[in-house]
Amino acid sequence: MSNSIPTQLINRILWCDCARGMRVLPDGCVPMTLTSPPYDSIRQYGGHEFEFERIARELYRVTMIGGVVVWIVQEQIIDGSETGTSSYQRLYFRDLGFTLHHTMAMQPHGTLHHHAVRYGGPLQYAFVLAKGRPRSITLLKDRPNKHRRRTRTFTQRISNGQLQRQRPYTTQDVGVRGPIWFYATGRHVATERYTNIHPARMSEDIARDHIISWSRPGDLIFDPLCGVGTVPKMALLTGRHYLGMEINGPYWVTALRRLADARKVPTQ
Ligand SMILES: C[S@@+](CC[C@H](N)C(=O)[O-])C[C@H]1O[C@@H](n2cnc3c(N)ncnc32)[C@H](O)[C@@H]1O
Repeated sequence: MSNSIPTQLINRILWCDCARGMRVLPDGCVPMTLTSPPYDSIRQYGGHEFEFERIARELYRVTMIGGVVVWIVQEQIIDGSETGTSSYQRLYFRDLGFTLHHTMAMQPHGTLHHHAVRYGGPLQYAFVLAKGRPRSITLLKDRPNKHRRRTRTFTQRISNGQLQRQRPYTTQDVGVRGPIWFYATGRHVATERYTNIHPARMSEDIARDHIISWSRPGDLIFDPLCGVGTVPKMALLTGRHYLGMEINGPYWVTALRRLADARKVPTQ
């Protein structure tokens, strides 16, 4: 049994510290959280302290059975070494009881920085954490097949060791995506230029694709660290409800403006 989210919190973005804000949520009420924390000390969003363990414990408490948390994070390099913070966070979530359902990489394309000692910058991970078995999975199928529309036959070795010919089948035009997703960055991550005040917006495409993959229409999508409101906006545009929290006043105000603008766009 899952609890319901209080109706006065549906489709709201609250200006608060999420470690405290989450206290008002009942146990097991959230079907999906999609969020991205501050990456070590890469950026200071107003100098607020980030209490990872407290936030992680609250996330586990408020997630419903079958609910999913997608945690998008990237390592920082200090003194020649990746900090390992994302590894620590991933195992901390596991120790709380989350299943490590999937580890994915969200790779920016079109930004080939030259690195003299590495094959590029640190990977951006999406940890897909589940409380039990995910209750909703819709795998995106848009990877062009190399051998499309080709009829092929395979053989399979059966228990007595002999090869058995399988029924021929024709490959489709597209297949299910792999675990590495490529996205545009910079000014292409959002449609509203005024959201540029935030130095680390999530790509709208990343938000949309995760929401579709791990939730159902009508679900509530929670982002406790919602910045300028990318996750709430994409929840709205994909027919879900949202709840956001943000500690930084100017980002919160921008998120409210963005959601008001998104509501003006006619849905299809
Ligand atoms: C990586 S950014 C998220 C950006 C967001 N996904 C977007 O697209 O705009 C992390 C955000 O967490 C906020 N934050 C940090 N600590 C917080 C806290 N304790 N409670 C709420 N928000 C917090 C920061 O102000 C920052 O906007």
